[in-house]
Amino acid sequence: MSQALHNLIDAKRVLVCVGAGGVGKTTISAAIGVAAAMQGRRALVLTVDPARRLADALGIAAFDEHIQTLSVETFAQHGITVGAPLDVAMLDIKSTFDRTVTRLAPDDATSQSILDNRFYQQGSTVLTGSQEYMAMARLYEVVTETSYDLIVLDTPPSAHALDFLDAPQRMIDLFGSSAFRMLLRSLQRSNEGTGMFSKRSLVMRGLGRFTSAESFTGLLEFFGLLSSTFDGFIQTGEDVMALLRSRRTAFLVVSACDETSTREGLFLNTRLVQEQMEVGGWVLNRVQAYSDAALTQPDATRAALRDTFDSAGLTLPTAPSMETILHVATVLGQMAARDHTHLAQLRERVGADQAVVSVPRSRHEPTHLTELTALAQILTYVAPAATPTPPPAATEPRPHPSAR
Ligand SMILES: Nc1ncnc2c1ncn2[C@@H]1O[C@H](COP(=O)(O)OP(=O)(O)O)[C@@H](O)[C@H]1O
Ligand SMILES: [Mg+2]
Repeated sequence: MSQALHNLIDAKRVLVCVGAGGVGKTTISAAIGVAAAMQGRRALVLTVDPARRLADALGIAAFDEHIQTLSVETFAQHGITVGAPLDVAMLDIKSTFDRTVTRLAPDDATSQSILDNRFYQQGSTVLTGSQEYMAMARLYEVVTETSYDLIVLDTPPSAHALDFLDAPQRMIDLFGSSAFRMLLRSLQRSNEGTGMFSKRSLVMRGLGRFTSAESFTGLLEFFGLLSSTFDGFIQTGEDVMALLRSRRTAFLVVSACDETSTREGLFLNTRLVQEQMEVGGWVLNRVQAYSDAALTQPDATRAALRDTFDSAGLTLPTAPSMETILHVATVLGQMAARDHTHLAQLRERVGADQAVVSVPRSRHEPTHLTELTALAQILTYVAPAATPTPPPAATEPRPHPSAR
């Protein structure tokens, strides 16, 4: 099954990891970057919110968009053989927004007034959907301005995984809407002393009774300034959507072994298909592996038990009895059975032609290069052919379209 991911890494220019919050998008994006390096592809991972230790492992201690390179030698120091270095960068929403405004504004004076505007300064990072829009704008920038073989995009921790898809369209809809433009034209007239937003107009005198009226005019002034960039924002939004629909882009839906994140993934899957975007595969993360270690390796089980207690902030009794260990083994066995049922059901729900790669739950949070490499190997594991005869057609991986 994971042949599919191996193929995608070889064939695509852009892979976008999407899914509900907390399912492992950032971790999987990093692991795919490592897999690409192992396959000799020159890749960039654009990450959004790596956990502190993951950021350290990737060398991106500073939370800026400076590109860090994990050299072939760095991998070698960890005993990992790669065919290409791996670049990693944080997605910096504010800088992307600043650059986009500077690029789209008609002149330096206008771009400076926008950047200096207090609504822009307070709002550019919190404006609804701007985070998702800018993530996409940054992707577009990197795709058009660099020569990476592969760009892996981690997506922001939105309340709804669909936000990143809706954001460019929402921006297009808002900035392109005739009502919004009419509002701004009347704002322009108010600057000339007429129109419904002029200081002496009924509307503004009415609003003036409220303290927010000043903010309201300030906000309108801000949009007035920004209006010179609207067409550019619309164009960028359309370019981004075209890139996401391109044959060189594929999405990976990530979910965990719970109904909520899986349902969100399925929803996303349907929407991507509707949008004519390619779903390259599904990663079911944190699948509890079957283990009889509790019975055969009591020491390992005690260690696992200690981790579990530690992470729950509990103190482990000094000598866990065999009874406790057996109980833990039973619970782990039940979890494994539940997760495997979930996996089987997911395969049924997405259909036979969709690759579903299951990634086991690691005992520790996978934040080190060696752990990411282990994940990379799981994600792209290609079973060696047992005999020279090819496997039957039914188990052949689905061929993926490639623009190359
Ligand atoms: N296979 C795994 N096994 C154990 N822990 C994992 C695994 N994948 C991710 N995690 C942990 O789960 C948490 C959420 O992962 P993260 O990649 O930050 O998710 P997202 O980016 O979707 O919010 C992190 O603490 C991460 O280390
Ligand atoms: Mg994340």
